[in-house]
Parts: sequence; structure tokens; C-alpha cells
Amino acid sequence: MKLIKLYARALNLLGSDKKQGWFLAIANVALAMALFAEPVLFGHVIDELGKATSDAGASIWKNVWPLLAAWTGFGLFTIICSTLISLYADRLSHRRRHIAVSDYFEHVLQLPLAQQNATHSGRLMKIMLQGTDALWWLWLSFFRDHLAAIVSLLVLIPLALYMNWRLAIVLIVLCTVFALLTNFIIRKTQTLQQQVERHHSDMAEQVSDTLGNIPLVQSYARIQNEVAALKNISKRLLSAQLPVLSWWALITVLNRSATTISILFIVILGTWLFTQGLISIGAIVTFIAFAAMIITKLEQTVNFIHRLSMDAPRLADFFQMMDTSPEINDHAGSINLTKPKGIIEFKNVNFSYDVKHPAIKDLSFTVQAGQTIALVGSSGAGKSTALSLLYRVFDPQSGSITIDGINIKDISLSSLRHNIGVVFQEPLLFNRSISENLLVGNPDATQEQLINAAQSAQALDFITRQENGFDTKIGERGRTLSGGERQRISIARVILKNPPILILDEATSALDSTTETKLTQALEAVIQNRTTLMIAHRLATIRRADRILVMESGQIIESGTFDELFQQGGRFTQLVREQFTELPDRVAS
Ligand SMILES: Nc1ncnc2c1ncn2[C@@H]1O[C@H](COP(=O)(O)OP(=O)(O)OP(=O)(O)O)[C@@H](O)[C@H]1O
Ligand SMILES: [Mg+2]
Repeated sequence: MKLIKLYARALNLLGSDKKQGWFLAIANVALAMALFAEPVLFGHVIDELGKATSDAGASIWKNVWPLLAAWTGFGLFTIICSTLISLYADRLSHRRRHIAVSDYFEHVLQLPLAQQNATHSGRLMKIMLQGTDALWWLWLSFFRDHLAAIVSLLVLIPLALYMNWRLAIVLIVLCTVFALLTNFIIRKTQTLQQQVERHHSDMAEQVSDTLGNIPLVQSYARIQNEVAALKNISKRLLSAQLPVLSWWALITVLNRSATTISILFIVILGTWLFTQGLISIGAIVTFIAFAAMIITKLEQTVNFIHRLSMDAPRLADFFQMMDTSPEINDHAGSINLTKPKGIIEFKNVNFSYDVKHPAIKDLSFTVQAGQTIALVGSSGAGKSTALSLLYRVFDPQSGSITIDGINIKDISLSSLRHNIGVVFQEPLLFNRSISENLLVGNPDATQEQLINAAQSAQALDFITRQENGFDTKIGERGRTLSGGERQRISIARVILKNPPILILDEATSALDSTTETKLTQALEAVIQNRTTLMIAHRLATIRRADRILVMESGQIIESGTFDELFQQGGRFTQLVREQFTELPDRVAS
């Protein structure tokens, strides 16, 4: 995105605060106007002094007093105006920054997993923090300094021309030199700065990825390797950043030289004009004060553009993320799913993560209300993928999925997901207290319901053993709990949610067999009267399923009850035999 476009877009983000933005803009213009008064009045005072003779003290004061009074008035106005601008610009930009953070956060959370998987969470966070930081700075400096600087330039130059066009030409040449140099440097450094930002993002991703896996880093003695990898990114970052810095250092030197030369020119030209009787000393003084003012404003503007061009890739990343529209969305006629019976039908569903390898091929099956079906098959067969299509983590490329005969694409996303409870293959937990984690699916649950759910999930014992019981914080992704404890928390969470449709993806795989047996018994009560789709590697846990689907390479290759399938002597029988090698006869009977 071009600088000017980024700039306009950032200002456009002010949303409901635009009115205040306009107020600040007008105040800035007033301030810029008031600033001219000082050099003009100064010039007049000098001229009055120049005209007077030493014995005419009283008449000098008579003429100078009104000038000084006007000067004081303008001074007071300038002070009040700039204080108000600073105060309101500060508040406005802080407020808008937080709005931008929460908008981004909400937007990213709505993006489907497919889109999020492509971007590491560390990178997403970096884009949010640095993007909103850049926005905050842009708003603040625009309203506090740069709008005034730009307006001053636009007014001062015509005014200078009006005052003395010969001297003003020097200033116009100076402005042109500044503009050309800045434009040249921006073009030189734009691509490099984008590279710098990419390295910054790589660094954020690397750091967050490593910090999220400290146990792995330590146990594989990889500290030095990880540090070396980070240093490597730093090295690449610096080698892209240093040339940018050199270019900007060069422009600072060139601008400075241009400034000094211009002032010298004005003095020389002014002196010559004075000798020709074309200008008064007061006018020269005014003009030099003007020139100093224009130069300050020019430098401010160039500094602003410098910072803006450094921040441009951050703003571009931020806007690009905000522009990603969720691929999975509600459409205008979406309906709310209320109390579904839970008849689920997959019809010729095809899905692939990438074009080359289909993950689900022509999948068709029906689950009647209240039934339990089980998906089995080797690792990578597509079981989790198939069930994730039901709650629309992804949409199938072809085929349809219906609940009670309604295509899930026509059901509002939130009502669809409210009606489906998932126990994920990896228990996903927040770094919050146990009760906060449990309440995720049902924030209004009572303490009694909480305890009952924990009890059914065989989790109450270990929860009450924790130092703070239900209030114990469980660390990042539940790290302070054992694998089996984490699974039981996520089962309790879904029990508390009490959805009409339940998905259990290897829900009990990390449990010892005694706990698993107890939990399976408890789950029987939960599973009854609700449609349940379960995935299990341990086949004993699906003994009671109404139907078992055996999946291989994204397809159903066998289906039937446990006993029917076992009799068939196909893939399922082979799976059972592998698991029950010691007890094949008992299982078959
Ligand atoms: N987010 C993803 N992006 C790309 N490919 C994926 C993604 N998730 C899974 N896959 C691929 O899709 C295929 C099916 O994966 P899936 O997780 O559905 O298998 P599964 O049957 O649940 O296996 P397991 O029993 O090991 O859990 C695998 O080949 C896997 O590598
Ligand atoms: Mg799986």
C-alpha cells in the first residue's frame, strides 16, 4: 500500500471520534495561523525602533505598546490552543488504539482455523501490538504536531511570497529540495523496510514458538540452537535495517546543509536588497524568523514521513489482516438452530486441506437422533477432519452436511456451535482457573452443576486435591495438570455445556484403564438421548456404539455394529485382533 493510502486509511479508522478529529484539525489550523503573528509583529517592532530617534521615547512606546499587546494576545491563544490540542490528541489516540486492539482481536478470533493455521499466533500478536502502536503514534503526532506543520507550510509559503517574492524563492527552492530528497529516499528504502518487517515478524514467531515449547527446548538441550536461530534472524534483520538507516542519515545531513545554505542566501540576498532600498531591516528580520519557522516545520514533516515510512509495513500488515474476510460466514438468510433432534447426514462429502491430497473422499453416512456412532481407523485416516466439518472448522469442497435436514451452511455459525459439544483430541485449556475453564460452555452454570459435571468426568477427586480447588490456575494450556487430568477437565466442560450433539475425539485416550472404565460408565448416561459421534483407537470403548464406521484414507471402508464388523473378518477384525491379541475369543463372543 502506498504511504498516502495508509495515511488516509489510518485517519479513516477514527470512526465515531471523527468529529473530535475535525475539531482538532480546525484547532491546528488556528494554531498555525496564530504562529505567523509572532515574526510579523517582531518585524514591526524592529521597524518602529529603527524609525525612532533616541529622544522620542514616549512616541516609541506609543507605537510599540499595541504591537506588544497583540503579541501577548497571540501568545496566550497559542499556549491555550496547543495545550488543548495536546490533551485531546493524546486522549483520542489512546482511546482509538484500544478500540483498534479489540477490533483486531475480535476479527482474528472469527477467522476460521484454516486461515489461522497459516499464521503463527506469535506473528498475529506482533501484528496487533506493533500495528496498533503505529496507528496510535500516527494519530497522536498527526493531531499534535504534523497537521499544524503541514498547514503552516501551506500558509507560510504564499505569505512569504507576498512579503518578499525574491527572498521567498529561496524558501521555495529549499522546500523542493526537501521534497525531492525525501521522495528519493522513500523509494530507495521502501522494499528494504518491508524486508525488515518480515524479519521482525519471523523473530516474533520464532520467539513465541520457542517460549511455548520450553520443556522441549530444555529436554533436547536445544537452548544454544534456538538462541543461534534467533541471532540468525537478528543478523538478517540488521543487514536489511542498516542501509535504511544510512539512507535516512544521509538525508538528514543533506537537509541540514540545504538549510544552512538557504539561510546564508537569505542574509546575502536581504543585504543586497537593503542596499538597493528594496527592503527594510524589520522585513529582513521577519523573513529570517519566517525562514526559521518554515525550516522547523519542514524538518518536522520530513521526520514524520520518515517514521511513517518505517511504520508503513506494520500498518500494511495490520490492514491486510483486518481485510481478510472470514471464509466461513453467516449468510443473510441464516437460521438459528434451536433444540435440534440431532439427525446428522453427511452426503458425498469431499474435503482436502490442499489441492493434491484429499483428506475426505465421498463420505456419506447418517446418524439418527440419539444414536451413537463411532469412527475408527488408522492414524491420519481423516476421522478428526470429518467431524470438524460438522462444526464448520472448514467447509467441504463438495457434498453436503445436514442437521435435522437443514444444511449446516444455512445455520448461523453461533447457533450451530452452541448445539455441538466437542472434546478435542488435544484438550485445549485456558491459563485460567479450573472453574473458569469449565464454565466456558455454560457461563451461567451453578456451583452444584459444576461439581456434578466434574464428578461425572471423574475429575472431582483431583480438583479438590488442588491447593485452591476449583479456583486453581492450571497454567498455559493446562500445563500444571497431567494429560489424563486435562482430558477429564475437557470432558467435564462438555458435560456442563450439555449440547444435543456431542463429538468425542479420543476423549479418554490418556486415562488409565480403571479411570477410563469409570468414565465410560459415567459417559453412558451423558451419551444417552443425544446424538454422539465418537472417535476411538481403543476399541473396547466403542463396544456399545449403534454403528461403527471404519475409515481409511478419507473413506468409509466398512460399517456396522461391533459384532457385525468383527464377523466380517475385514479391516475392523484385523484392528480388533491387533488390540486384543491375547483375548480374541472373549472379544468376539
Ligand atoms: N490443519 C491441517 N492442515 C493440513 N493437513 C492436515 C491438517 N490437519 C490434518 N491434516 C492432514 O489430514 C489427514 C487427516 O488428518 P486427521 O487429523 O483427520 O486424521 P485422524 O484420522 O484424526 O488421525 P488420528 O487418529 O491420528 O487423530 C492427515 O494426513 C493430516 O496430515
Ligand atoms: Mg484425530
